Amino acid sequence: MTKRSINDPVLQAKFDELDRKNNESLLGGGAKRIEQQHAKGKLTARERIHLLMDEGSFEELDKFVMHRSKDFGLDKEYYLGDGVVTGYGTVSGRLVYVFSQDFTVFGGSLSETHAEKIVKIMDMAMKNGAPVIGLNDSGGARIQEGVVSLGGYADIFYRNTLASGVIPQISAIMGPCAGGAVYSPAITDFIFMVENTSFMFVTGPNVVKTVTHENVTAEELGGASTHSTKSGVTHFASANEVECIQNIKQLLSYLPQNCEDTAPRKAYTEGNELRPALNTIIPTNPNQPYDMREVISGVVDESSFFEVHKNFAENIVVGFARLGGRSIGIVGNQPAVLAGVLDIDASVKAARFVRFCDCFNIPLLVFEDVPGFLPGTDQEWNAIITNGAKLLFAFSEATVPRVTVITRKAYGGAYDVMNSKHIGADLNYAWPTAEIAVMGAKGAAEIIFKKEIAEAADPKAKLDEKVDEYTRKFANPYRASHRGFIDEVIYPDQTREKLMRAFKMLENKVDKLPRKKHGNIPL
Ligand code: HXC
Repeated sequence: MTKRSINDPVLQAKFDELDRKNNESLLGGGAKRIEQQHAKGKLTARERIHLLMDEGSFEELDKFVMHRSKDFGLDKEYYLGDGVVTGYGTVSGRLVYVFSQDFTVFGGSLSETHAEKIVKIMDMAMKNGAPVIGLNDSGGARIQEGVVSLGGYADIFYRNTLASGVIPQISAIMGPCAGGAVYSPAITDFIFMVENTSFMFVTGPNVVKTVTHENVTAEELGGASTHSTKSGVTHFASANEVECIQNIKQLLSYLPQNCEDTAPRKAYTEGNELRPALNTIIPTNPNQPYDMREVISGVVDESSFFEVHKNFAENIVVGFARLGGRSIGIVGNQPAVLAGVLDIDASVKAARFVRFCDCFNIPLLVFEDVPGFLPGTDQEWNAIITNGAKLLFAFSEATVPRVTVITRKAYGGAYDVMNSKHIGADLNYAWPTAEIAVMGAKGAAEIIFKKEIAEAADPKAKLDEKVDEYTRKFANPYRASHRGFIDEVIYPDQTREKLMRAFKMLENKVDKLPRKKHGNIPL
């Protein structure tokens, strides 16, 4: 900060006092604790903000706020800013609000005043319609403060909920996040974690050992890899903090500022949009897998696919991309994992993504190759019915432009669920390799021709004959196209061009749900 020299000793003393306070606030919990933070491989709250925001754009608020507690020695220990740096600034020229918890001050723990600072910028973000980014690094509720700290958390949770669907809310976990503190990030739209230095859990390893007698490390219980692969709590796991912040910036580039806004568009000049490589992706054997990401990257603008929840429920792929410069949300079944079947995790993952896109006016593009829902006691007993219904509900209530491309299988209930025309999709395309039927040809033939096959002189030959008959009749896109359930059967190489035209045509779509307080999505 530039020191002012004033030719007046009284004024100079006042300016010097402000200098002192500014410098003190920059130090957080002091040089030693900053050193300890760095030794753990972590950046400080201010260093993180510096990485996130456009150079020189950050305006800090409440720099001199201090806690007002007197218990357990707190009357003798004060730090300017009280463990959280808050303010506003720009990322790629667009307004964002940010809070960044300072672990060097009481372990970043949340006091009443720390909460008030966060609440202040959340309220501003709501009034001014811009995203809130929370950089979390905190030991949870400030233990010395008791219930006022809990109240502070609840004030934040409440605002997270009211802001949901109004402004994008992004949480990065860059240190501990324990106890009820996890619930604010959980309500936000996207969670980022950093490998090896961040963890999230409701109860830590010690409590787990006491209650369930399990021995587990903090990393195993709630580290980035656990939450990005097993629980799905986090959407992104990054190798380090710098990568994490880069990813946050990339995510923001696909999002509008608020629910009344549309996502920023990149300049794009149309040219030859034919993509011949798409013609040969689908294997001739319908049981052979292929990677749906190849289809996605072959269709969207070059290198624009930004995958969300990459390592969780990999049988479905979701993420943002650009098509002719427009931001779109993509959901694709993934035949390379579990044949692309829909199970509980895949349904929930995709449903949440669809709802996010719908909240924020991001058109949806679906690539479909799905053999149906996963059978089994595990799935049934854990409520695949309720969870699968979430995806059905999410697509059905989405009013953004919605287009589906069926690349291969569209079987059974999954055909209905995956953004079919019947549940409000605007356009459904199919490739010539599409198979739209109640179930696979073999299973179907075994059921409907059971008696005929059993009584045949050569049951195997009879089964083959019936499978062949069923395949000819139903394992193609034409039955559905005769009905208008498929708007057009297209050559794969035309897909990009067709979709660019489709989304352009749908740009001014207006669709409203019946008047209601809110729907009751199966939870
Ligand atoms: C006050 C805290 C604190 C807390 C840490 N500190 N957590 N001060 N309230 N919750 C202080 C420490 O006293 C220490 O102060 C400094 O922060 C750094 O802490 P260390 O323990 O030295 O650091 P480390 O070894 O890295 O361990 C970090 C930690 C651990 C894992 C976060 O501190 C910890 O377990 N803290 C308690 C976590 C917890 O149980 N929180 C309450 C959760 S319940 P000095 O002065 O030595 O630097 C909750 C309810 C919310 O949050 C409910 C909402 C509904």
